[in-house]
Amino acid sequence: MPDPDIRHATEADLPAVTEIYAQAVLQGTATFELIPPDLAEMTRRFKALMDGGYPYLVAELEGSVIGYAYAGPYRPRPAYRFTVENSVYLKPAIHRHGIGLQLLQRLIAECEARGFRQMIAVIGDSANLGSIGVHTRCGFAMIGTHPNVGFKFGRWLDTVMMQRALGEGATTLPNP
Ligand SMILES: CC(C)(COP(=O)(O)OP(=O)(O)OC[C@H]1O[C@@H](n2cnc3c(N)ncnc32)[C@H](O)[C@@H]1OP(=O)(O)O)[C@@H](O)C(=O)NCCC(=O)NCCS
Repeated sequence: MPDPDIRHATEADLPAVTEIYAQAVLQGTATFELIPPDLAEMTRRFKALMDGGYPYLVAELEGSVIGYAYAGPYRPRPAYRFTVENSVYLKPAIHRHGIGLQLLQRLIAECEARGFRQMIAVIGDSANLGSIGVHTRCGFAMIGTHPNVGFKFGRWLDTVMMQRALGEGATTLPNP
């Protein structure tokens, strides 16, 4: 498979992003949403991330958006402002070709360039070996599991918390 072009997302990419995420909502346990957000809601979320100075990337192959990744606030209270939570989603047909890894590595670099200091992955479902695997490959440490905090498709689901320092992490103070 040729290398995808990984670039910053624009509003024109959001129909494809909405479609990729809808499939993950309807068929997967990585996200705990139950009803796929429509294009208007995905656009509202995109604009909120842009306004907050967070990176939002897409992977494009032969003219089609095949995956995306973004970082956003981990929690809204202001002392969390140097910590981000990440998301990465690919079309199922292109899993396991190294594209999730490329998106996440680029997302980490973008967050480091913006001065963020910690990245947290809240992974839906302990059985999500793809997500746990790609985060491990990117240097995330396993923090722990919240057992049985979700309920989807008729079963209880865990969340797996993983975390990685960005840039100088906690070894220096952040720029105000
Ligand atoms: C999670 C996801 C983004 C990973 O992307 P991907 O392109 O399939 O993963 P990659 O091919 O880049 O894998 C990189 C490494 O992660 C690990 N990995 C990936 N998939 C794995 C799996 N199913 N089982 C075990 N390890 C896996 C491997 O170490 C792999 O490296 P290798 O292929 O050299 O062994 C993708 O599977 C996906 O979109 N899943 C559905 C949505 C999702 O779970 N998103 C994460 C939300 S937190």
